[in-house]
Amino acid sequence: MKDTQDTFVQKTNAQVADDKFYWEVLEGLTKKQKSLPSKYFYDAKGDRLFQQIMECPEYYLTRCELEIFTDRTADLAAAIGFNHEPFDIIELGAGDGTKTIYLLEYLANHHTDFRYLPVDISANILTELELLVHARLPKVNIQMLAGEYLDMISEARMLSDRRKVILFLGGNIGNLTPNEAGDFYREIGRQLQPGDSMVTGFDLMKNPHIVKAAYDDARGITKAFNLNLLHRINKELGADFDVNLFEHYCSYNPENGACKSYLVSTVQQKVNLQGTVVHFEEGETILMEISQKYSPESIIALAASGGFEVVASLKDKKGWFTDSVWRLAEQ
Ligand code: AVI
Repeated sequence: MKDTQDTFVQKTNAQVADDKFYWEVLEGLTKKQKSLPSKYFYDAKGDRLFQQIMECPEYYLTRCELEIFTDRTADLAAAIGFNHEPFDIIELGAGDGTKTIYLLEYLANHHTDFRYLPVDISANILTELELLVHARLPKVNIQMLAGEYLDMISEARMLSDRRKVILFLGGNIGNLTPNEAGDFYREIGRQLQPGDSMVTGFDLMKNPHIVKAAYDDARGITKAFNLNLLHRINKELGADFDVNLFEHYCSYNPENGACKSYLVSTVQQKVNLQGTVVHFEEGETILMEISQKYSPESIIALAASGGFEVVASLKDKKGWFTDSVWRLAEQ
């Protein structure tokens, strides 16, 4: 994966992606507070483990948002202005579309003129999603966009000048720090036109025991999900992590909503990453993931930072999760 500076090598996309993976891992493991980017959790095994997490009794996020999409579909459709002019729905990180299909079904049943443009980094998952939409809603116009979120929003803008409705569900925004989330919405705001909508699924601040349990399930699936990234680094980057010498630890700070997952080295040890030796003290941690929880006030502030106004905040019955619908204000 490492490249000598004096040789010019024509690289394939896969090699460029491998290099990026290598450099980001190296950067994270050589910082004072070691960290690894959680976006790399999702290889084939990681995808399967995440599916299992979503089925864990402790992991409430998916069920809460599904409830909003099944029980509050009409409110959601009204909040995105479904009965006005034709529009494009662009879903960032669309995945398998389990929740979105309810909104699409409602819109199709109400003869709404819209197109569905799901964006995902995985072309595979998009193909499965297309099959699901064709089977359940054959009349819905779907066009898949495989790539990075912001690039695909620009791509969608080139495809049509219809009003845009961006969906970013699942609490995925929580995997950015609040500062990164602010930058993300500012960039999206720059790409959209006044009147365009943004729907984000936010996990809300709540009883800290409930949050903590969601990231520390009794069956240890979340632990396996975190350790899988060390396996992946061994397999794809030739490192020699002994995954048995790391345990999983999760913390939740109810004052600022930061839920953080770590791997803890149980002994003093060395890990070799393509010739770079990474030292661990006993008890030293690798920060693996942030899953930020938001207060209703912090959501309003985040919307404003990107130039959006909050139109509606739909919650599940327990009030644990919200899909917040925003509209880009006139500048
Ligand atoms: C994908 N993302 C919203 C999940 C979350 O809740 O932060 C990832 C996850 N990590 C551990 N459990 C679930």
